[in-house]
Amino acid sequence: MTPLHKVIINKDTTTNPIWVMRQAGRYLPEFRKIRKENPDFIKLCLNENLSSEITLQPIKRFGLDAAIIFSDILMLPFGLNQKVEFRKKLGPILGEFQINETLKISEMNFINKINSVYKTINLVSKNKLVKNKNIIGFVGAPWTLLVYMVNLHSPKKGLKENFFKDNNLIRNILQILDKFLKIHIKNQVRNGADVIQIFDSWAGLLEEKDYQNYIYDPTISLVNFVKSLKIPVICFPREIKNYKKFCEIVKPDAINIDYNVDPITISETIKVPIQGGLDPKILLTDKETLKKETIRYLDIFKDHPYIFNLGHGILPETKPEMLEYLIKVVKNY
Ligand code: CP3
Repeated sequence: MTPLHKVIINKDTTTNPIWVMRQAGRYLPEFRKIRKENPDFIKLCLNENLSSEITLQPIKRFGLDAAIIFSDILMLPFGLNQKVEFRKKLGPILGEFQINETLKISEMNFINKINSVYKTINLVSKNKLVKNKNIIGFVGAPWTLLVYMVNLHSPKKGLKENFFKDNNLIRNILQILDKFLKIHIKNQVRNGADVIQIFDSWAGLLEEKDYQNYIYDPTISLVNFVKSLKIPVICFPREIKNYKKFCEIVKPDAINIDYNVDPITISETIKVPIQGGLDPKILLTDKETLKKETIRYLDIFKDHPYIFNLGHGILPETKPEMLEYLIKVVKNY
């Protein structure tokens, strides 16, 4: 059985597999080299040879337990013909969402536009580096995608005024997302993904009264869909105010926690397998601090099915040797 399945399906507490969010990325010199030669990020995601190579870079270097496909949650709006660009320092910038144009897009149109993502997964799954390891496919949660598709850029400084004004538009987008996210998940699984992670990076922006409509209901639909494919699903509703309630209502197979929640409370109140938690900034300190914090998480979750990971993506300024050391600490625990 593969490492993540042991923990998620068998609820094994004797093993702590490790992978890290954004493991295929800018902190690796071998990634930065490819990135420099490929200034268009979307084109890079659509190049299955380079994307599969990037996916495998951290596996080759560190022997992590799972490979996460090099792609982006915004390949979904891109597949729906919304303009998506990545600008240095600004992050993603999207073009205006055109509902009437989007309603004309068929499953075939969508798949043809982003088919190379599935080819990437297929190539990765055939590589011997991932033998007995997991291949993680992923999607953005409907709420987080809605945020980008309507806000048109990162909501770091808050959502635009009138974000919720056109209720009809929002309902339509959520319906479109439900349909195409399922298509996207299905094709990732068909091509070799054996775990799906749902990233709800902006869950923390909502008030609890809005969770039902924007987080719980749309996520339940996807979670049930992934379960119907007989693949485990990990949810990451980052900075949600109540992880326990989320788990009770949405029933994911595993839950990723952020670094602001108290891991002790989580371990005492949540039954499902847990993933993540360590603050990525700890990797910017020193080995002693890193070891101490890592062991703190491992101790807290020692009787719990636990997958080691961070509480958000690894930071670009991280030294690769710090990740190497983290993996050593986890493996020697
Ligand atoms: O290694 C991996 O985790 C796989 C690849 C991956 C990327 N993005 C590659 C990427 C994954 C899983 C994502 C998810 C993603 N993308 C999320 C959810 C997780 C999170 O970070 O909250 C979100 C919100 C996005 C949208 C996105 N893509 C943003 C906000 C940005 C710019 C800022 C940033 O964090 O880098 C991106 C660009 C992006 N996606 C890069 C990479 C490697 C950087 C591109 C570059 O080299 O400039």
